[in-house]
Amino acid sequence: MRVVIAGGHGKIALLLERLLAERGDQAVGLIRNRAHVADVQETGAKAVVCDLEAASADDVAVLLSGADAVVFAAGAGAGSGAPRKDSVDRAASVLMADAAERAGAGRFVQISSMGAGQPPRPGTDEVWAAYIAAKTAAEADLRSRDLDWTIVRPGRLTDAPATGQVRLAAPPIPAGTVPRADVAAVIAALLDDPGTRHQTLELTSGDSPVAAAVRSIS
Ligand SMILES: NC(=O)c1ccc[n+]([C@@H]2O[C@H](COP(=O)([O-])OP(=O)(O)OC[C@H]3O[C@@H](n4cnc5c(N)ncnc54)[C@H](OP(=O)(O)O)[C@@H]3O)[C@@H](O)[C@H]2O)c1
Repeated sequence: MRVVIAGGHGKIALLLERLLAERGDQAVGLIRNRAHVADVQETGAKAVVCDLEAASADDVAVLLSGADAVVFAAGAGAGSGAPRKDSVDRAASVLMADAAERAGAGRFVQISSMGAGQPPRPGTDEVWAAYIAAKTAAEADLRSRDLDWTIVRPGRLTDAPATGQVRLAAPPIPAGTVPRADVAAVIAALLDDPGTRHQTLELTSGDSPVAAAVRSIS
């Protein structure tokens, strides 16, 4: 399977690229900084430079030619303000979905966030509100498309080692944390299971092995 990962130098993306390479899939990481090429290649993936805040859908569709699946793993990241929540967390996902449709890459897994899908609580910090609004709009855009999409909303991410044990279910599930390594393992399993399409799933650490958790919602 050829899988193109938007935000290919992100922490989850690098873990996912390694998992995909280990099982014989071809991962392609889209990055915006040439200095990150070696890190992506070191996972066994291919690196392609593409700034998702500057590229057109046609530009990206060319890069998706021959792809079986797309993973949206980009994010404006901590320290960014409201405008980049919109230009990355919303607009770059819309761009990838548009390009996936044009290129005929049917499978699309989007990393969203717990908290998306409902208005932020009154009094919420402005940047967090912009982030949740961006993720909510990106989800809505993806649901409107003729793609085999799956939306994954992780809880707060940690850099702890993989546990292989998760809670994955339709919202709402109780808030919680989850290691990025477990998120990567869940996405790899979702890519393998087209029966999980057209679902919005929340994800935290839990007590189900990843394969069983994915099978249970397939
Ligand atoms: N932090 C949390 O607790 C949490 C919880 C739930 C969901 N999430 C979501 O989970 C996803 C992945 O998280 P993560 O920790 O793996 O993210 P991360 O390490 O911050 O990686 C995000 C990647 O997106 C890339 N990116 C930003 N703008 C770009 C652009 N214009 N073109 C191409 N790439 C661009 C960044 O590249 P540069 O290195 O060049 O900036 C970075 O490599 C994000 O969507 C995040 O919002 C996070």
